[in-house]
Amino acid sequence: MEKINVLLIGSGGRESAIAWKLSRSELLDTLYIAPGNPGTEPYGTNISLDTDDFVTVEKKVKELGIELVIVGPEQPLVDGIEDTLSEKGIPVFGPSAAAAQLEGSKSFAKEFMKQYGIPTADYQTFEIDQFDKASEYIKQKNRYPVVLKADGLAGGKGVFICENQQEVEKRLSQLSEDENLKSAAATLVVEEFMEGEEASVFVISDGESFRVIHNAQDHKRIGEGDTGLNTGGMGAYAPAPLVTDSLKQRIDDEITRPTIEGMKASGHPYKGILYIGLMMTEDGPKVVEYNCRFGDPECQVILPPLKNDLLKLMISATRGEIDTEPELVIHSDYFCTVVLASGGYPGPYKKGLEISGADQMDDRALLFHAGTANKDGKLVTNGGRVLNVVGRGKTLKQAIDHAYTNVEKVTFKDCYYRRDIGKKGLKKLA
Ligand code: AMP
Ligand code: GLY
Repeated sequence: MEKINVLLIGSGGRESAIAWKLSRSELLDTLYIAPGNPGTEPYGTNISLDTDDFVTVEKKVKELGIELVIVGPEQPLVDGIEDTLSEKGIPVFGPSAAAAQLEGSKSFAKEFMKQYGIPTADYQTFEIDQFDKASEYIKQKNRYPVVLKADGLAGGKGVFICENQQEVEKRLSQLSEDENLKSAAATLVVEEFMEGEEASVFVISDGESFRVIHNAQDHKRIGEGDTGLNTGGMGAYAPAPLVTDSLKQRIDDEITRPTIEGMKASGHPYKGILYIGLMMTEDGPKVVEYNCRFGDPECQVILPPLKNDLLKLMISATRGEIDTEPELVIHSDYFCTVVLASGGYPGPYKKGLEISGADQMDDRALLFHAGTANKDGKLVTNGGRVLNVVGRGKTLKQAIDHAYTNVEKVTFKDCYYRRDIGKKGLKKLA
């Protein structure tokens, strides 16, 4: 393979980790990141580009001689960036809009899993004008908690676990009235609650074959002990001790392979990164959700241990040749990332607060930027999730300790982080 110019779309901690990994590839000529963040500058050239406008993206790609577009977040994929650009002969690493429906429409994903016998929670769908029927259905079943999910993308805000009928009524009203949720909730998925612990598995696929990259565990809630509001993710570690070798085999056989084969059979082969969110229940692993991209912050802990050349894997997957790649080699070390967030997140928060200590990481830690900006020569906060400190160690305990030792070096006003990232994993290992 020859060296190529690459455009990476996105600006979060996930894209910082992808940019870092791509910059270590022997196949990379120039990396452009649109828009990137101050933390991606050492790995490539940040460019400003309206990535929602695919005609503008196409123009830029031609102007810069870009030979592969890698898409970090889900929205452009669900909106059809792969379809639009590949029609013009521009290779894109990421699924087509139809395949991205695995994340873009929860009812599509549920129907798909039912059709191909992939284990997941039982469910029923209702259109927005049938919410009274939904309420009646839940009342009849009389099994709580029950899970309500808006069908479409809702930035993690469209899922409600309801403990009783009163809460169901409240959430149904919210789903039909909230301006930000209404369109995502045009269809509602009512799902059985699954008891168990969660982990996710990340797979790279070319539509026919796949390679499992790694597994990880996220911490979605804002508060310690998994309390409070849902966020994009406050920390993660990899691997998750919960995912034993025998479970890995079951996940491959019962979930991953049937998913890739099912998507191919349905006429929408899945190319790109597939994120499979799993619940380890008494009856075995079941799918909670699919995402059509790397997780954020899971990406920050699964790419550092990957020894293979990520760009080579992405090129092979885009060309439909992932089966020509050797088995992936994953370093046996543990990695743990702690998200440093702006006080107030996931609610309103301040921006523009000066950050210090970002250059103080030791050699057992990596720092990936997310919501940061350069202002008057200073690094400042510019988002809810600001920085990711990744610690590494021979044991999970060491990885956690190295993460927190380095977290303490970074300061900005009202900085908030969870102090219990990885604790669940330690319990599992005890
Ligand atoms: P989702 O966006 O579908 O992943 O849902 C967000 C979060 O809600 C998941 O990570 C789980 O913690 C929780 N959740 C979703 N569906 C279920 C379910 N059927 N049973 C238990 N928890 C669930
Ligand atoms: N960390 C969860 C996600 O990326 O969806």
